[in-house]
Amino acid sequence: MAGRVLITRPIPEPAPTLIAGVADRVVASSEDRPLSVEELRDRVGGFDAVLCMLHDPVDASVLVAAGGCKVFANMAVGFNNIDVAEATRLGILVTNTPGVLTEATADLAWALILAVSRRVADGDREMRAGRFPGWGPNYMLGGDVTGRTLGLVGPGRIATAVAERAVGFKMPLVYSGRRESPALDALGARRVELDALLAGSDFVSLHVPLTAETTHLIDARALGLMKPTAYLINTARGPVVDEAALVRVLKSGGIAGAGLDVYEREPAMADGLADCENAVLLPHLGSATFQTRSNMSRIAAENVIAVLEGRRPPNLVNPDAWRGALPG
Ligand code: DGY
Repeated sequence: MAGRVLITRPIPEPAPTLIAGVADRVVASSEDRPLSVEELRDRVGGFDAVLCMLHDPVDASVLVAAGGCKVFANMAVGFNNIDVAEATRLGILVTNTPGVLTEATADLAWALILAVSRRVADGDREMRAGRFPGWGPNYMLGGDVTGRTLGLVGPGRIATAVAERAVGFKMPLVYSGRRESPALDALGARRVELDALLAGSDFVSLHVPLTAETTHLIDARALGLMKPTAYLINTARGPVVDEAALVRVLKSGGIAGAGLDVYEREPAMADGLADCENAVLLPHLGSATFQTRSNMSRIAAENVIAVLEGRRPPNLVNPDAWRGALPG
């Protein structure tokens, strides 16, 4: 059973070639921008598989418009852009690309930790503006990294990879989460309640998926628990942080700074965030390496191809849909 496949945005190889080798027809959007929900609704009809991106709002209306589609294969680890409950109800499989961006995202979390505490972006701005007055004893001081406490919110794979790097910086490690993490425990990390982590850490790095429970997990109250010398790092999902509250705290000096790769309403930022000199702001680059994006492309293609061939896809996030979705 081959079929027709929609790819919602131009993506790196190898997915286009791999899928073309199996599918009867591949339609790849040539527009290098996110499609709106209306555009998705208009375009998804008549396909057996849709390879979509983390910014595609695959809500109930899109899933219904997709008619007999068998799988939405997200080229992302997160799948908060897809109404998985509705997909399951309709018997549509949803897949993701787990594990593939762990190291790249941990590297970027570390880029933010170092950039915000050691004022790397700030310093770059000084140089380019010709404002460097020469070395000064009080000029552009930042915060230490080595030996400071790193708090990891969420005990998953990326948190563990961030912690592995922190060992080299001799950082005491704490983490919060519903379950113990043997991997973090093995690195000497201590599991604590979130409030204790916020109050005791010099760097708070977020590594939770976006769910109803984690939306605004870091709100004004949580930010208020952090030390004025502490830094917040977010490479997870923007809505985990109440961005307006973060702007207020950054402006009032409630915390020392923030390193952000993700935003509440991407690609927009909260009013005032761009004016916060104590924030390092990146445009969602966590997985943005040639190697990682190519691996994401390959894994998404493997999921699509499995479904086209009548096999269970390797990275199914809604196993309950499997029962009804395909014969056999
Ligand atoms: C993901 O895959 O969830 C990442 O945010 C992409 O960078």
